[in-house]
Parts: sequence; C-alpha cells; structure tokens
Amino acid sequence: MTQSKKILRALAGETLDTPPIWMMRQAGRYLPEYRATRSQAGDFLSLCYNSELAAEVTLQPIRRYGFDASILFADILLLPQALGADLWFVTGEGPRLSTIQTQEDFDKLKSASDIDEVLNPIYETVRILSRELPEETTLIGFAGAPWTVATYMVAGRGTPDQGPAHALKDSNPALFDQIIERLIEGTIDYLSRQIDAGAEVVKLFDSWAGSLKGADFDRYALEPAKKIIAALKARHPNVPVIAFPRGAGERYIGFGQATGADCVALDDGVTPVWAAEHVQKDGCVQGNLKSSHMVTGGQALIDETRKIVDAFGKGPHIFNLGHGITPDADPENVQLMIDTVRGK
Ligand code: CP3
Repeated sequence: MTQSKKILRALAGETLDTPPIWMMRQAGRYLPEYRATRSQAGDFLSLCYNSELAAEVTLQPIRRYGFDASILFADILLLPQALGADLWFVTGEGPRLSTIQTQEDFDKLKSASDIDEVLNPIYETVRILSRELPEETTLIGFAGAPWTVATYMVAGRGTPDQGPAHALKDSNPALFDQIIERLIEGTIDYLSRQIDAGAEVVKLFDSWAGSLKGADFDRYALEPAKKIIAALKARHPNVPVIAFPRGAGERYIGFGQATGADCVALDDGVTPVWAAEHVQKDGCVQGNLKSSHMVTGGQALIDETRKIVDAFGKGPHIFNLGHGITPDADPENVQLMIDTVRGK
C-alpha cells in the first residue's frame, strides 16, 4: 500500500523534502482555547476522561496550525490510576499519587487485565479522533515507559532526581521488578487497545530514562521498551512505535535497533549533527528544538530550527521539540517554527 501520510512515510524510513512536524504537549495551557475547554471540564483529570472534550482539545492545535500529527490527549499517569493507585493533580505543583513502598502496597494493585474499566473513555477519545481528524493527519497514541511511571508510583509525585525509585530498586529489587513487570503488561494492553480504537502510531515516553546509568539503563529503560515493542509488533506488525528515552545521551546510540523502535525521539541534550551521525544512521529520528524557543522566539528560533532541519535533512526525520511546550510559550512562536520548517 502506498502511504500518503507524511509521518508514516518518515517512520517507514523515507527521507522527505520537508520533514513532517508535530509538537509534544501541543494541546496545552499555552493555548487560550485549551484553557477555556479545560475550565469547562472542571479540572485536568476530568478533561482526560471526558472523551468529547479530550477529543476537542486534541483537535485544537490541528485546526490552528495544521500539524502533521495529533497526539491523543491523556496522561501517562492514567495507567497507574487504572491499576488502582489514587491520583490527583495539585494546581501549580503537579501530580500526586498514593505510594508503592512495600509488598503490601503492591499487592493492592489490580492486575493488568483489569485496567480497561477505567481506561475505556480514553479508547473512546481515540475512536472520536480517528473519525474527526483530517485525513492527512496521523493519530498518535501513547503511554509512559515503565521506569518513568514507576518513579511517580513509588514517590507519589514528581521528583527532581527520581531518588525514591532509585532507593527502592537498590534496596528491594524483587519488589521493584514486580512493579516494572505489572507496568509492562499494563502498557502492552493499554497501547494495543489504543491501536484497536484507531491510533496509527504509538509513543513510549521515558521522561526520566536519563537518570538510569550503565546496567540500570539496560534493565529498566531498554529491556522494558524491547518487551513492550515486541508484544505490540506481534499483535500489530504494521503500527510504528516511537521511543523517547529522554536524557539518554550516548545511550541513544543503538537504542532503536536494540528495542525494535521505528523511531527514536531526541531531547535537546544532544546536538543534531551528532545525532544525525550516530542515531539517524539507523533509522528515523524525531526532535529536537529546545522548547524555550517557543517562549523567546525571534531570530534564534529561526536559526536553531534551520540547523535541525539541515542536520537531519539526509535521512528520515520528524520535526518536534526536545520536550513538551511550556505554558508560558507564545502561540505565535509556534507558527514561526512551523513556517520555518516548511520553508515559508
Ligand atoms: O503531548 C500532548 O499534548 C499529549 C498529552 C500529554 C499530556 N501529558 C497532557 C498533560 C502527554 C503525552 C503527557 C505525558 C506526560 N505526563 C509525561 C511524559 C512527557 C513529559 O512531559 O516528560 C509526564 C512525565 C506526565 C506527568 C504529568 N502530567 C506531569 C508531571 C504533569 C504536571 C506538569 C505540568 O505540566 O503541569 C502533568 C499534567 C499535564 N499533562 C498537563 C497536560 C496538558 C497540564 C495539565 C493542566 O492542564 O493543568
């Protein structure tokens, strides 16, 4: 079958004249229309579980900018919630969860086959989107990678150095491995269901992979991604997977091949010239403009965007930021980035 969607072509290894583009957190607080829909929904989690409104905020940046992909509006912490953790968001601070510190805490979690009761509204959002998106727009589903999700489940919140998760994996590796295994199983089911509902690509967010070093990186970032991707490929051989081991640095080298990911998403800690030579040589890459350019704009935004497009121009590339856009970004700078990528 000839593929016309640009992102799917890049993911299949094609080098395009102009890279397709989307942006992490493209539906978010920097957009006034997002803030309006979020207040209509009540709070962030109510928005995630309201399929109509979640689909609406997913579509907002597509209408405004015409990105080549849209990413399902949800959160990586919905999976732990579906496994039975309490989850709430403190405005201005971030997520809070009940913690997993002991075998007793772990034993209270549900099995991975019981998550769909909570997550059904998310699959409904995907179904609405696959009907309503423009035909040239690719729909991306996602989940958090096990290590990153575990850091929140163990600590009960975001942590600057993932200290509590490191402490648990070092002091009680048997318990920590059970958490990772449960998350692997849950993630396989969660992503498969998103694909069944219409997701055309899925992305695994390992936002805290950078704090894993040496053998820990292999055991908790690489191996779980490899298992999840192998299981997804067995069920859905034609659905591409993007892996984002954020902060991996030199461990980006070979990550796509070792895990079976079709594309490796790059953060802004690696230079495009280095990544073209060492990572893109194996296949498609995504990234990696520093998100602060969406706040500051101007000539620096244009120059850095062009550098990235040029450096990755000889191979398959999807343009994106190195991390999510922040609430203080100026929506006009997003347009400037898109125009620069598309050569307008
Ligand atoms: O990219 C997208 O537009 C799709 C939706 C999406 C959200 N979160 C919506 C969201 C995705 C893919 C995520 C992933 C996510 N969530 C990650 C991995 C990527 C990353 O950013 O590193 C992580 C670590 C989380 C957990 C999470 N969710 C945190 C730590 C926070 C609070 C920080 C913040 O930005 O407020 C969230 C909240 C969240 N998730 C918001 C959005 C739009 C902001 C909520 C709001 O409207 O107040």
